[in-house]
Amino acid sequence: MSDKKPSGLEDVVVAQSSICLIDGKRGQLVYRGYDIDDLAQNASFEEVAYLLWNGNLPNQSELETLKHDLGVSMHFPKHLLELLRELPFDANPMRVLAVATAALGTLDPDADSLSPEANRKKAVRLTAMLPLVTTAWHRIRNGYELLEPNPDKSLAWNFLYLLNGQEPDDYAVETFDAALILHADHELNASTFSARVTAATLSDLHSAVCSAINTLKGPLHGGANEAVMKMLLDIGPVDNVDHYMEGLRARKEKVMGFRHRVYKAKDPRAVILERMSEELGKRANDTKWFDMTHRVEEIFQPTVAAKGIYPNVDFYSASAYHVMGIPSDLFTAIFACSRVVGWTAHLFEQYANNRLFRPSSDYIGETGRKWKPVSER
Ligand code: ACO
Repeated sequence: MSDKKPSGLEDVVVAQSSICLIDGKRGQLVYRGYDIDDLAQNASFEEVAYLLWNGNLPNQSELETLKHDLGVSMHFPKHLLELLRELPFDANPMRVLAVATAALGTLDPDADSLSPEANRKKAVRLTAMLPLVTTAWHRIRNGYELLEPNPDKSLAWNFLYLLNGQEPDDYAVETFDAALILHADHELNASTFSARVTAATLSDLHSAVCSAINTLKGPLHGGANEAVMKMLLDIGPVDNVDHYMEGLRARKEKVMGFRHRVYKAKDPRAVILERMSEELGKRANDTKWFDMTHRVEEIFQPTVAAKGIYPNVDFYSASAYHVMGIPSDLFTAIFACSRVVGWTAHLFEQYANNRLFRPSSDYIGETGRKWKPVSER
């Protein structure tokens, strides 16, 4: 028997939840009983947000109400804008999102209320604001004029419009919307867990979302999509993939965008994103990034199949976003713009049935030591 101590809370159940189910062996992801494939093909991100928050898909009037509430929440408070303009232009967009989320907490009239009604309002406001902050930050750092959002359009449409200043075409909006759906929730991943840990102290929703944003930022979690893009740029031409991968293998380096703690099959989101990345490349007449990503998978995956290592959600999202003209340092922020829906759905659950998280550790330090004055140490 292995004497390796369990670590990283692997397989430890820390909550009961009815939001998201993952079948890691079959590569299946389910939101509130609906398969992710079904939702990505047929639903809008707004419908999925409603589903995750409320447990059911909205009827027409519920959907209209949500879209209206999101629309009226697409409004930049003057103080937040002033704050963003004061930040150094090379600030990491995830730091900017965390700063903005904390600032929005100071400006929200419901900030300190933990009531379900207040939490729902705050979740809607944050879901409307994170795309505005991400895109505004991109424009501010480049010295571009800020644009007005269109409250009658979807969050996906607004993100692409506010970023690029051009009305996006239908296929780009459809694809971006599907990408938001694919990233919206993923059970007790690291950032969702950190959001729940913060909420479990009865800290407020904005503070819990700040924890989640800061946790998502890391390259082992949401930051991996940016790291995949860096790898593709480092590789250079497509015909350098094989040589580059040999180098990684020789140095025993991890390949970003590969493996997931809970999947022993290909991540179902990667399957959908792979199709999207290929189609986007064909439409843009720029298949290089898809081809390169596909070649990395072709070479690397068979070498790690025995360990159950497959591409994860980040692997094909990098090439898809790149072809859409999105700068790679915004990839993780886009993840946050979507995952805020999942985080807040989990926060509703946490507040409704709260118990403080307080795990324990296996102490391996010294014992029985006696204090000595500094002159004797
Ligand atoms: N490439 C090559 N080998 C890998 C990779 C990888 N990307 N990931 C894990 N392995 C290997 C490890 O070397 C280890 O091998 P060993 O048993 O021979 O020592 C084994 O798989 C287990 O690896 P751990 O790091 O212990 O796996 P863990 O479950 O703790 O980590 C994680 C999961 C963080 C996702 C890790 O696989 C990783 O760093 N992947 C790359 C980063 C990434 O893509 N992150 C995004 C995950 S999805 C998301 O959060 C949205």
